[in-house]
Amino acid sequence: IGNNIFYFAELESTNSFAKEMAKEAEEGTVVIAESQKKGRGRLGRNWQSPKGGVNLSVILKPNIPLDHAARLTLMTGLAAANTIRSLGLDARIKWPNDVLIKDKKVCGILTEVDAEMEQVDYIIIGIGINANVNVDDFPPGIRENATSLQKELGTEVNRVEFVQKLLYEIEQQYIKFKTQEFSAILSEWINLSDTIGKNVTIMTPSKMVEGKAIGITDTGAISVRTKDGKRVNLIAGRCVYTR
Ligand code: BTN
Repeated sequence: IGNNIFYFAELESTNSFAKEMAKEAEEGTVVIAESQKKGRGRLGRNWQSPKGGVNLSVILKPNIPLDHAARLTLMTGLAAANTIRSLGLDARIKWPNDVLIKDKKVCGILTEVDAEMEQVDYIIIGIGINANVNVDDFPPGIRENATSLQKELGTEVNRVEFVQKLLYEIEQQYIKFKTQEFSAILSEWINLSDTIGKNVTIMTPSKMVEGKAIGITDTGAISVRTKDGKRVNLIAGRCVYTR
């Protein structure tokens, strides 16, 4: 990972750029931008990407069925959390893919997949980290729930070293992904989970499920036990903590 790195001072979105070249690109190609004009978040939201942050996308070409793609999202969240933890910060993962420090979001991940005949063709994992940014400049509604590495550390991070560590960590996890059972990654993920054991509401375009998060399935879905004792697995959605 990172044999080919495309670096930009500014880009609309590293995920969009990566998507355009993904078919021809070598696996492990990385796209980095100092800032993004149209940084994209999950569920059609936008992602604040001022200078000082880390905005990058990695192109992967795993030989896996489409319904295993969510595993790579979890894998990336774990890699990002581990990298942030290596700075001495208590990073935890909120399902499916937010990395939090003390309940505030420091990192988001946007996974985009292209598949043919239910088999993954390529997958783009976009990672956005509030590194040396001032979240107080973020729009209201976002800033209250956001933090940055700089804010938590009280000093700037060396972003070059940070990106090196992050790419190395993703590569290590990806090797594990390809050579071991997924349970190896999942158990590490669960150790850092902020979500398991909490009361949650999961919203998808078609339904809303309320209950207690009791686990993650082998494909990366969240298992929720509802009030009437049913167990529901959801592979994607918006997760909100409830009381
Ligand atoms: C989210 O939490 O909603 C996901 C945010 C993902 C942001 C990253 S920044 C690099 C990559 N390029 C994008 O346009 N988005 C992702």
